[in-house]
Amino acid sequence: MALHDEKLVISDISTGYSGRKIIENLSLPAILPGQVVSLIGPNAAGKTTLLRSLAGLQQAHGSVQLGHRELLSLPLADHARHVTYMPQSLPQRVALSVLEAVIGAVRASPVSDSLESDQAVLERAMDVIERVGIGHLAMSGLDSLSGGQRQLASLAQALVRSPQVLLLDEPISALDLHYQLRVMKLVRDLAREMGMIILMVLHDLTIAARWSDRIVVLSGGKVAADGPPAEAVTDRVLADVYRVSGRVSPQNAGLHIDIDDILPL
Ligand SMILES: Nc1ncnc2c1ncn2[C@@H]1O[C@H](COP(=O)(O)OP(=O)(O)O)[C@@H](O)[C@H]1O
Ligand SMILES: [Mg+2]
Repeated sequence: MALHDEKLVISDISTGYSGRKIIENLSLPAILPGQVVSLIGPNAAGKTTLLRSLAGLQQAHGSVQLGHRELLSLPLADHARHVTYMPQSLPQRVALSVLEAVIGAVRASPVSDSLESDQAVLERAMDVIERVGIGHLAMSGLDSLSGGQRQLASLAQALVRSPQVLLLDEPISALDLHYQLRVMKLVRDLAREMGMIILMVLHDLTIAARWSDRIVVLSGGKVAADGPPAEAVTDRVLADVYRVSGRVSPQNAGLHIDIDDILPL
């Protein structure tokens, strides 16, 4: 598969619900192929709304350019050729095995290569299932999985498409520490290997700082900070955006956060 090499430029995006504006004139400097960008911010900041707009699932004004293409003016099926979105809440009661669900995601993809043999698709699906760490569950029904296991299966469905742009909404929210770190490393490795652009919503600031090239802090539908982790996650952001007093300091490849107190909202 060819390495993706186009950048994503989000300019002047506005969106909301029945007249209520949630995001107004939001722009971000270009996101480069191979970059992992974490979108963080308080509950109801507009993170999901922004991701859904970028996925073409929610009407938005403005411009989202991938290379020379304007994504917002593409029909949804064409949009989905370039962008895969993993929603925050996962579908329930699907009577498929993990392997069937991941193969289904390949075959249902608009970029699916119909010439790819069943054997090749099977191998690719198993490879991704193993890389997310649920090889032992490949034949298990999705219905029989725990919340975290289902989240991993859903992630495998998104990753197997190797999209140019991958949008993940809280992909590690149900995972234990081992799998949180494993998924973050896998996502970063795949971004590098494939040139994928990955934009993911996270709540854990230290995990975001450790594994992201860049962090965008969203607050009240606006960009409160944007840059390399140490520039985006600061004492000031803790206080102003999260209403927590504390100190952020560099540590190993990430950041250490010492919490002092909870501030009034
Ligand atoms: N389908 C919807 N209809 C109306 N309002 C919505 C809908 N989805 C989200 N909102 C509102 O939009 C705001 C941002 O929500 P959301 O993007 O889900 O936030 P986040 O993902 O950052 O927690 C919230 O105030 C929420 O109540
Ligand atoms: Mg959300």
